[in-house]
Amino acid sequence: MLKAKPFVKWAGGKRQIIDELKKYIPDEFNTYYEPFIGGGALLFELAPKKAVINDSNAELMNVYQVLCDDSKFKKMCRVLNNYEANHSEEFFYEIRNKDKNKNTFNRLSDYTRAARTIYLNKACFNGLYRVNSKNEFNVPFGKKSKVNTYDGNNLITVSNYLTMNDIKILNKDFEEVLKDAKKGDFVYFDPPYDSDNNIFTSYTEEGFGKDEQRRLAKVFKELDQKGVYVMLSNHNTTLINELYKDYHIHVIEAKRNINSNGKKRGKVEEVIITNFTKNN
Ligand SMILES: C[S@@+](CC[C@H](N)C(=O)[O-])C[C@H]1O[C@@H](n2cnc3c(N)ncnc32)[C@H](O)[C@@H]1O
Repeated sequence: MLKAKPFVKWAGGKRQIIDELKKYIPDEFNTYYEPFIGGGALLFELAPKKAVINDSNAELMNVYQVLCDDSKFKKMCRVLNNYEANHSEEFFYEIRNKDKNKNTFNRLSDYTRAARTIYLNKACFNGLYRVNSKNEFNVPFGKKSKVNTYDGNNLITVSNYLTMNDIKILNKDFEEVLKDAKKGDFVYFDPPYDSDNNIFTSYTEEGFGKDEQRRLAKVFKELDQKGVYVMLSNHNTTLINELYKDYHIHVIEAKRNINSNGKKRGKVEEVIITNFTKNN
């Protein structure tokens, strides 16, 4: 089967370090869990037959759901064709502002909301996803005169993968998703990044601060004690080194494209942490 690729550009997307991540994947495992799925780079690369995928971003998970329903999927593509044809700065803000009135926004069909999410991702500045305290999308126009919102063949491949395998799609907090994880399962955590100097860390209206990193480390430990294979990626910060000092910490260099501060783009050290080792 053809390999699917991420259909959105996502802050922290793992396409650039996919080969590094693949070095640490256990040779065999039962269910694959990815509680911070974002664009799903590793999921699509591994294409496991049984997986639980999750993200706290409701609009993003709605897109994955729509892709599982053939008729909604086709309707979403028709809306996207229409958005591409009408694309302009004024049109971008018209679509972006649809979440200002929650009554009308909640009445939109799921496929129209999915199209809006994909369109905003492709047409906004740098593919960022950011909402304000009222949960309103607030990334400015990306200044592209033309946008290609989707690759039809890739979306079909994504849809086939999601529907022809046993893939559970959830929209919860990461901790709730892992209650059923058992010995022999594999969990990959790609949380919002920690930072030693508090640069861009807020992905959702809730944000993900130091306390959340600590809560995640506790969950990591509980899974480890159950015999689950656990892998986590993050920045190479003081807190992350402290929280995972009992595990295997592999340092890698990654090139980051998404950053709120253009000057800070470039090479940032990342770590891949595992509770297991591979003999290869
Ligand atoms: C680094 S991104 C994941 C990138 C992804 N692996 C990729 O390759 O595109 C982190 C994700 O965590 C999600 N998130 C933030 N807080 C969360 C929480 N408490 N539970 C679940 N997901 C959360 C964000 O919405 C964001 O999509």
